[in-house]
Amino acid sequence: MELPFAESYKIKVVETLKKSTRQEREKWIEEARYNLFNLKSDQVFIDLLTDSGTGAMSDEQWAGLMRGDESYAGASSYYKLKAAIRDILGFGYFLPTHQGRAAENVLFSVMVKEGHVVPGNAHFDTTKGHIEFRKAKAIDCTIDEAYEIENEHPFKGNLDLEKLEDVLKKYGPEKVPMIIVTVTCNTSGGQPVSLKNMRGVRQLADKYGVKVIYDSARFAENAYFIKLREEGYANKSIREIVAEMFSYADAMTMSSKKDAIVNMGGFIGMKDEELFKQASTFNIMFEGFITYGGMSGRDMNALAQGLYEGTEFDYLETRVNQVKYLGSKLEEYGIRYQRPVGGHAIFVDALQVLPHVPREQFPAQTLGIELYLEAGVRGVEIGTLLADRDPETRENRYPELELLRLTIPRRVYTNNHMDVVAAALRNVYEKNNEIHKGYKIISEAPIMRHFTVELEKA
Ligand code: F0G
Repeated sequence: MELPFAESYKIKVVETLKKSTRQEREKWIEEARYNLFNLKSDQVFIDLLTDSGTGAMSDEQWAGLMRGDESYAGASSYYKLKAAIRDILGFGYFLPTHQGRAAENVLFSVMVKEGHVVPGNAHFDTTKGHIEFRKAKAIDCTIDEAYEIENEHPFKGNLDLEKLEDVLKKYGPEKVPMIIVTVTCNTSGGQPVSLKNMRGVRQLADKYGVKVIYDSARFAENAYFIKLREEGYANKSIREIVAEMFSYADAMTMSSKKDAIVNMGGFIGMKDEELFKQASTFNIMFEGFITYGGMSGRDMNALAQGLYEGTEFDYLETRVNQVKYLGSKLEEYGIRYQRPVGGHAIFVDALQVLPHVPREQFPAQTLGIELYLEAGVRGVEIGTLLADRDPETRENRYPELELLRLTIPRRVYTNNHMDVVAAALRNVYEKNNEIHKGYKIISEAPIMRHFTVELEKA
């Protein structure tokens, strides 16, 4: 008999989860103005809001915390992290930051100026925010297949090299400071970019004389998919694949809260000394001195260890298998989601699950609320609320896909929890004939409205 799959770790410390009744949840979500971000964590049973900073650290990482060197300058923890970044990612220069968006802020302060154009594959919200804040423009060059929900393309994070070359041709290196490649691409569903595509981007960048930056939050999950799906890589180790990926980048920004399995932290990796020198000034201004930049020594130790653990095949297999497990359950129940299964989350098609809720009443948010009411499960809306209003017309922007992201924290939940999530979603799906109304906005912020929006029943 073939042995079944099991996790590559065991549990040493546990945290109690609180269950609640539907009646309690009805009261809490109303008090939260139907905004899932406003719930208190103890009002949530299974929290799939994000995989960012929510992972469980290992015994070795916790041990690293005790050995942290908190010296203001030249801490051993800094040198430990520097060595790990050089060893695994191949960047000789690095700057620590408090999280991923801080790395973007520092690097873009050097590289992005008013009137610039930054092509990439569906930039993450904060990345786009830091570009637009500098009066530059982010251009999405993702392949069209990425937005076809049932298309099984193995690398839906890929850039369309023709679209990219059009942008480079039109604006030239004077206007394009960098191409951003997000690995995996969160916005299109945790979908990977192939090495072939990364080589293609590098060639175009060299042809037009622009730099290539990787937004690397989930780089290890990307490498795992390359090993599984790309021809010629089945026998390469994750670390070999990671090394090749980053050989095509000039610099990287990292949110360490994802694939490095720490609760807080980030960094910038660079190959060019001059860029490092320029970025150092901004790092000192915004984050902290160059040998700690927004991180304590203990956190740098945990991060260095996390980079090694996060790039182990057995860990990644366990991780991605859990996401796949949830996907297979939903498939069994006939619930549609972004295919193939991505690295960190399942993106559920809210328009299929709740077909009677009008677009202007936020079907994905409505689904998020229904799922919470059903079982205390918290997902996050990736739909019309997140897409916000057009800055000029102030009309709602309706994105192509209306999704509920069920984001799975690393090493935290068991597959029994996934069973509860899938069963709850099935129950909502089965009574969708009774759900015709969504929500309307009572108040909203001028930008990034989804975090603080207040809603009432439509
Ligand atoms: N880049 C990507 C691809 C991300 O997914 C995130 C964060 C960031 C950059 C910013 O990093 O949060 O450390 O400042 N994504 C989280 C999420 C918030 O829920 O997907 P940060």
